[in-house]
Amino acid sequence: MAEFLKSNDTATETKYPPLKNPPHHVGIIMDGNGRWAKANGKNRLEGHNAGTENLRRTLESSVEFGIKMLTIYAFSTENWKRPPFEVMGLMKILEDVIDRELAELHKNGVQLRHIGRLERLRPAIRKKVLYAIDLTKNNDRLILNVAFNYGGREEIVQAARRLIQENIPADDVTEDLLSKYMYTADSPDPDLIIRTSGEFRTSNFLIWQAAYAEYYITPTYWPAFDKTEYYKALLEFCQRDRRYGGRKE
Ligand code: IPE
Ligand code: IPE
Ligand code: MG
Repeated sequence: MAEFLKSNDTATETKYPPLKNPPHHVGIIMDGNGRWAKANGKNRLEGHNAGTENLRRTLESSVEFGIKMLTIYAFSTENWKRPPFEVMGLMKILEDVIDRELAELHKNGVQLRHIGRLERLRPAIRKKVLYAIDLTKNNDRLILNVAFNYGGREEIVQAARRLIQENIPADDVTEDLLSKYMYTADSPDPDLIIRTSGEFRTSNFLIWQAAYAEYYITPTYWPAFDKTEYYKALLEFCQRDRRYGGRKE
């Protein structure tokens, strides 16, 4: 991965003027790899690889645009329903990305985290994920949460189970407490959720945390979602009026 762009790049500043209040935490539902592949005469795994390449570009842009935390939806608990060949391909991509990119991510100050369940993954992949998390734990330029084998409902169920196992009294169960039992315990809620490929649904992504997130949906397939589109999404976010159920005087 190329050294991340420095924000004092003047040519870049003209094209992408600094944003006044960029979202702190952006979530991305990286959808449309399959449709992109089909439209470009490629197979689905080539689509997933192209999507992975785009992630690398998105990380660089995130740093440049002042985003501090990015959560990417890479594999849902429902994606196990796909043909074994595709599931295995997606697992392999995760493993290859760690092998290939970890050193560079670490050098660029990216902290890796994982949300979801590691249990069902092959032990070798689990080990690599845990190693990557440990290696990068003190980095703070960009926090990258990887949602892999993640499902929002599963997350709420595991939280409920742990509360019961720990004999937490019913009256102590508050929204704040429950938040601490989610995989995202140490993260602020997402401010903006981007979904590529035009579907108007959450597909079980951060359903607890995104209660007041702003959504941005674009018909562009994930591998083609470029820096200009990303900037456009952030710009639109900056113009939204977040009321959180209150009202202006
Ligand atoms: C998103 O692309 C990647 C994953 C869900 C792993 P898809 O594979 O869902 O692509 P489409 O939606 O079929 O185009
Ligand atoms: C959501 O995409 C999951 C990821 C991007 C990892 P899907 O393609 O699985 O979602 P649906 O099936 O269109 O709801
Ligand atoms: Mg899809």
